Amino acid sequence: MTTNILLLGSTGQGGWELNRTLLTLGDLTALDFPEIDMADPASIQQVVRAVQPNIIVNATAYTNVDQAESEPDLAMAINGSGPGILAEEAQRLKAALIHYSTDYVFDGNKGAPYTEQDAPAPLSVYGETKLAGDRAIQAANDAYLIFRTSWVYSLRRPCFVTKVLQWARQHETLRIVVDQVSSPTWARTLAEATAQVIALGRGDPVGFIQEKRGLYNLTDSGACNRFEWAKAIIALDPARHEQVVTQVVPAKSADFPTPAERPENSALKGEKFASAFQINPPYWRTSLSMAIV
Ligand SMILES: NC(=O)c1ccc[n+]([C@@H]2O[C@H](COP(=O)([O-])OP(=O)(O)OC[C@H]3O[C@@H](n4cnc5c(N)ncnc54)[C@H](OP(=O)(O)O)[C@@H]3O)[C@@H](O)[C@H]2O)c1
Repeated sequence: MTTNILLLGSTGQGGWELNRTLLTLGDLTALDFPEIDMADPASIQQVVRAVQPNIIVNATAYTNVDQAESEPDLAMAINGSGPGILAEEAQRLKAALIHYSTDYVFDGNKGAPYTEQDAPAPLSVYGETKLAGDRAIQAANDAYLIFRTSWVYSLRRPCFVTKVLQWARQHETLRIVVDQVSSPTWARTLAEATAQVIALGRGDPVGFIQEKRGLYNLTDSGACNRFEWAKAIIALDPARHEQVVTQVVPAKSADFPTPAERPENSALKGEKFASAFQINPPYWRTSLSMAIV
C-alpha cells in the first residue's frame, strides 16, 4: 500500500523541513494556510476528505506566544479545536496523526527536566491552547504521536537565532536572560526524527503508529539558558566580521516584561522517545552549528 501523507503547515519552520524529508516516504500532499485554515472546521474536513491520507503530519500552529494573549479565541481555534477536528477526521479514515506540542504547557517550576508523565500547568494562553490540542487528539484518535518539543528555530523564519544574529550586527552590548532554560531544537531535527519514525513503520505505518501511540518529548539533546544559547549563536556566526557586538551580559526575564509569561526551566527529558524508536537527537550545539550557515 502506498503511504499517502498529508503535511499541514508546510512553509513553517518545522513544516519546511518536513516537506523535504517526507518527500521520499510516499505520496506527499503539502499544504499551508490559506489552502487549509485550522481555525475553520469545514476547511479541515474538506482537505482531509479530498486527500484521503493514511498519515497526517500537522506542523501548523499559532506560535506567536505574546500575541496569543490578546487573541485567545483564534489561538484556541488553531491550536486547540483544529487539531481535535483533524484527529476526528483521521480516525474516520483510520489514518494516523503526527502532531507537535510544546514545553510551554509546563510552568517551569519543577527544577528538573520534565517527563511525559508530569502534570502540565501552562502560564500562557499559547501553552493552554497547545495543551487543549494535545488532549483533543488523545481523546479522538487511537493512532497518534504527539512530539512535545521546545525552542524550535530555523533561519527561514524570525526566531531567537535570527534575532540574536541581527542584534549582534546592531548593538555592542546584548543583554540576554539567564533565567529561562530549555533545549534549543533545530526544525530539521523534528523533521528527520518524524521521517525516521514513519520509515520504521514502513509496510504498515498506521499500525506501527497505533502500536507506539502516545506523547513523546522530542528535542535536540542537552539544555541551556538563553544567555548561553545567544553566546553560542554569536560564536558560530560564519559572518562574525559583520558583528558589532563586544559583550553579552546576563539579564533577568523581569527586565524584559512581555505579555506572556515564560516558564523558567522547561527542559524536557527525551528518554522515552529514544528508547521507543532507537533514535537519539543530536546535541543542541551540534545542530546549531549545522543550522547557522
Ligand atoms: N517555534 C517554537 O519555538 C516552538 C516551540 C515548541 C513547540 N513548537 C511547536 O512545533 C510545531 C511547529 O512549530 P514551528 O516553529 O514550525 O511553527 P511556525 O514556523 O510558526 O509555522 C506554523 C505554520 O502554521 C501555519 N498556520 C498558522 N495559522 C494557520 C491556520 N489558521 N491554518 C493553517 N495553518 C496555519 C503558519 O502559516 P503562516 O505563516 O501563514 O501564519 C505556518 O506555516 C508547532 O506545533 C508549535 O506549536 C514550536
